[in-house]
Amino acid sequence: MPPNWLVAGALAPPEAPALARRSSGSGAMIGPVGWAGSGAHALGAEVTVLSQSLAKRDDGLRLGADNYYATSDPATFKTLKGSFDLIVNRTSHRVDADPQTPLLWVIRDHVGLTGTKFSCGIGQCGACTVHIDGRPTRSCSVPASIAIGKSVLTIEGVSPDGTHPIQMAWKEFDTPQCGYCQSGMIMSALALLRERPHPTDADIDARVTNACRCGTYYRIRKAIHLAADLMGK
Ligand code: FES
Ligand code: FES
Repeated sequence: MPPNWLVAGALAPPEAPALARRSSGSGAMIGPVGWAGSGAHALGAEVTVLSQSLAKRDDGLRLGADNYYATSDPATFKTLKGSFDLIVNRTSHRVDADPQTPLLWVIRDHVGLTGTKFSCGIGQCGACTVHIDGRPTRSCSVPASIAIGKSVLTIEGVSPDGTHPIQMAWKEFDTPQCGYCQSGMIMSALALLRERPHPTDADIDARVTNACRCGTYYRIRKAIHLAADLMGK
């Protein structure tokens, strides 16, 4: 369902605030602020600008997505093409790509593991979290080259059948809602549990900083505590 501010025909309240614009580097993001209604008559050019801006919302997104699109274009890809080996989930993969391609896209499009998700593209939300030599890393914001010679772990490598204690704990509380953020959540939580086998709520809040639009934070906390118990047995 489209956000209500994009529904044509809905009436905007006369006092509806203008769309807010903020800059990020050389890019710009535009979004509605405190606007419950909408109106085709009030949107016009702003909607056009909004949709364009959402497609490329800032420098980070451009670095991530545009590089992806560039390297996915066969004509351009030829000029950027390189070749390197990447160890992902204990298996070596030969990758034909520009080593500066964000690690996320190499994992998804070249290695073929799509459990790691793309969301913000600017290192903020954590949906793309993987481990590089055990360290949680936001793979949208680092070039694949930094993982060469290291060990990358993705959600698919946590267990072959979804029976790792952290996955069992996640299931116990039906933790996901839409599920989009959850692979990144699990990877961040797993890194925390390896470092602090019995984290406090404060530890969780400080170290699992991923965003969940569905607001499953309460269940995530409970699942992390249960995973800590299961992993300690
Ligand atoms: S997609 Fe990488 S941090 Fe949001
Ligand atoms: S479960 Fe939907 S975004 Fe987290």
